Amino acid sequence: MKNLIVTLFGFFLLASSALAQQVEDFDSIQLYTLTNRQGMKVKITNYGAIITSIMVPDRDGKMADVALGYDRVEDYINAVDKPYFGAIVGRYGNRIAEGAFTLDGETYTLAINNPPNHLHGGVIGFDKVVWGARLTRGSGWQGVELKYRAKDKEEGYPGNLDVTVTYKLTDKNELRVEYQATTDKATPVNLTQHSYFNLKGEGEGTILDHELMISAKQYTPVDEGLIPTGELPDVAGTPFDFTSPKPIGRDIGQEDQQLEYGLGYDHNFVLDKSEGEMSLAARVHEPTTGRILEIRTTEPGIQFYCGNFLDGRLKGKSGKPYVHRGGFCLETQHYPDSPNQPNFPSTILKPGDVYQSTTVFKFSAE
Ligand code: GLA
Repeated sequence: MKNLIVTLFGFFLLASSALAQQVEDFDSIQLYTLTNRQGMKVKITNYGAIITSIMVPDRDGKMADVALGYDRVEDYINAVDKPYFGAIVGRYGNRIAEGAFTLDGETYTLAINNPPNHLHGGVIGFDKVVWGARLTRGSGWQGVELKYRAKDKEEGYPGNLDVTVTYKLTDKNELRVEYQATTDKATPVNLTQHSYFNLKGEGEGTILDHELMISAKQYTPVDEGLIPTGELPDVAGTPFDFTSPKPIGRDIGQEDQQLEYGLGYDHNFVLDKSEGEMSLAARVHEPTTGRILEIRTTEPGIQFYCGNFLDGRLKGKSGKPYVHRGGFCLETQHYPDSPNQPNFPSTILKPGDVYQSTTVFKFSAE
């Protein structure tokens, strides 16, 4: 059927030799377009397993691209300030304190790429490598399966880790992200999806009027370096209470030490659920367009980051600047720094076990 045809493009024509040196197999970088019966369109590249575009209708059927990003692969490779637009983050999403952890009696040291800590898998994390990719389809969906082998000691982590991430666009306007990984040596694993959304459309101002609900009665407060203190306080009575929907901007200006540390929201929320349960983690509603994003996940946590480091210097696909708080991320995950926090759910994958995680981004409008 015509609307189920998956198109495959060579990604961006002009690869300079300098870029070709940075990325070994530049020629194999592709852009895949998934479509569904409702006209939704999602673009994914095998560079960093990045979602580059998500076209969704508003309440009047008007389409807009709600994902921040670039339209040239060079811009992803050279990105200033490394915003991780749309990428799969690994081997460990978010921070590991001082880039060190001890496992089975051995201490491992990782790059300090967010001084004094390690962030998002290191200098060349899963967001900056070329993945193997193939198109795949089933009843009511079409997708892209991406594979990457992170070698033993890559970015300092133990074990060869074989990762598969499958993106599936369904006819119900859901974008499913299915993660799987196996290892030959015990290692921390914490994979996430780092899309920035603006449900008005990318480049259409700030996200402060978006109404957000997070299914979390607790969160993990942090120190100045954004490492969790280990406590799990209640959100009730704090700016972190999103248990009922409220505009993201309502309490963001409150005097609060946690908001100061994060320069706004940049915190992990402890989802209300039993272990491994697939449940609603967050719901976002944009009042002017009526667009809604619901996120379901099997993960125990979600990092809510509201684009505090965006400052208008980066220009996106339409040439419009990405202003301060011009996009939000809701990164499903295990809690930051888990390898050093014995009271947090474990992120250690052992040989013979299979890491499995699923997150669903569902779009609608009302
Ligand atoms: C995550 C982190 C933030 C920041 C962004 C990328 O959300 O928690 O502090 O590093 O990624 O800019």
